[in-house]
Amino acid sequence: MPQIFLTGATGYIGGAVLGLLLEHPLEHTFDITVLVRNSEKASLFNRTFGQKHNFTAVVGSYSDLKLLRKLSDADIVFACADSDDLPAAKAILSGMRDRHSNTGVAPVLIHTVSYPGVLSDNENGMHSSPTIYSDLNIRQLETLSPEQPHRNVDLALVEADSQGYVKTYIVLPSTIYGFASGPIVEAGLQNYRSQQIPTLVDLSLRRGQGGMVGKGKNWWGNVHIDDVADLYIQIFDLLTENHPPPDFAHGRAGFYFAENGEHTLFQVGEAIAKVLSSVGKGTPSPTTFTEKELRLYFPNGTSLGTNSRCRAERGHKIGWRPTMKTQDMLHSIKAEVEASLSR
Ligand SMILES: NC(=O)c1ccc[n+]([C@@H]2O[C@H](COP(=O)([O-])OP(=O)(O)OC[C@H]3O[C@@H](n4cnc5c(N)ncnc54)[C@H](OP(=O)(O)O)[C@@H]3O)[C@@H](O)[C@H]2O)c1
Repeated sequence: MPQIFLTGATGYIGGAVLGLLLEHPLEHTFDITVLVRNSEKASLFNRTFGQKHNFTAVVGSYSDLKLLRKLSDADIVFACADSDDLPAAKAILSGMRDRHSNTGVAPVLIHTVSYPGVLSDNENGMHSSPTIYSDLNIRQLETLSPEQPHRNVDLALVEADSQGYVKTYIVLPSTIYGFASGPIVEAGLQNYRSQQIPTLVDLSLRRGQGGMVGKGKNWWGNVHIDDVADLYIQIFDLLTENHPPPDFAHGRAGFYFAENGEHTLFQVGEAIAKVLSSVGKGTPSPTTFTEKELRLYFPNGTSLGTNSRCRAERGHKIGWRPTMKTQDMLHSIKAEVEASLSR
């Protein structure tokens, strides 16, 4: 019975992955533990899933490093909470080192990173970039500066893998969109909305007009939440495959972008502006956030004007088959606006 530990169970990504694990055909063979910050939610998790599954929710956070280390003494860890928390990542690795010492087998860490952060430039929406990263081109990825956001955690993981006590698989989703669904959402325990598009929708509602950084000429990838969760499960399933595809790599080459199309931030701003104007708010063309708005909305800066382009080639090589495309993302914006309006 593989022991699985998952963080971010109440989150958009982590909840979607957990939902698929609980619905997995081999679910009866899994022993699943999740970390939950809120004690009431942890109780509800245990009441809802603890009877039917080998499932335990433990109260704690990434600040509880001892607990994190203890729970990470598992066969497989899905890290779906904060991509940036280096002390937490090191505590997870310590727990996995313990697992290796106890069993002699290298456990598996499937870690989540925000790819726009890792790849982003500083174009402020004024220019598109010709640079497209492929997850099959490891040399190109290794040209990324260690100073790029999240990269310090990635590099710590790759280093740990090179020491042989853990196998690391790093999933880098691009802009995720769509409402999450599944048992964790149905139990009222999961955040079912993403970050980037809902943020743009909320800001556009606040200013009464669809907006963008600069001219919105910058490109990002996009991927539906169901497809993202499928990629984690595809990796998970291949762990026990006798003859996995040759590109099913871990460690230095174990980077998996999740995207199934690209868009400019102008396209997103325009789609929002069109929906808003159809309900009497603003014009159908997005306008540039003023300097004052940028300072007000993003006091710590924003990645919404950056280019962040990639191709999820490794995922395709290992059999991941995402179904939703850029057009689906643009269509999803109407429902996002309605959700924000109804809230
Ligand atoms: N959504 C996207 O488009 C996207 C794309 C690529 C990468 N990412 C990255 O993936 C990660 C998860 O994103 P998400 O969209 O799933 O976010 P989310 O919906 O906000 O979920 C975050 C999850 O992590 C938990 N969490 C946050 N900080 C924690 C801490 N210090 N200790 C323990 N648990 C903690 C949250 O618990 P609570 O419920 O208690 O808050 C929640 O379960 C983030 O690092 C994000 O930057 C997101």
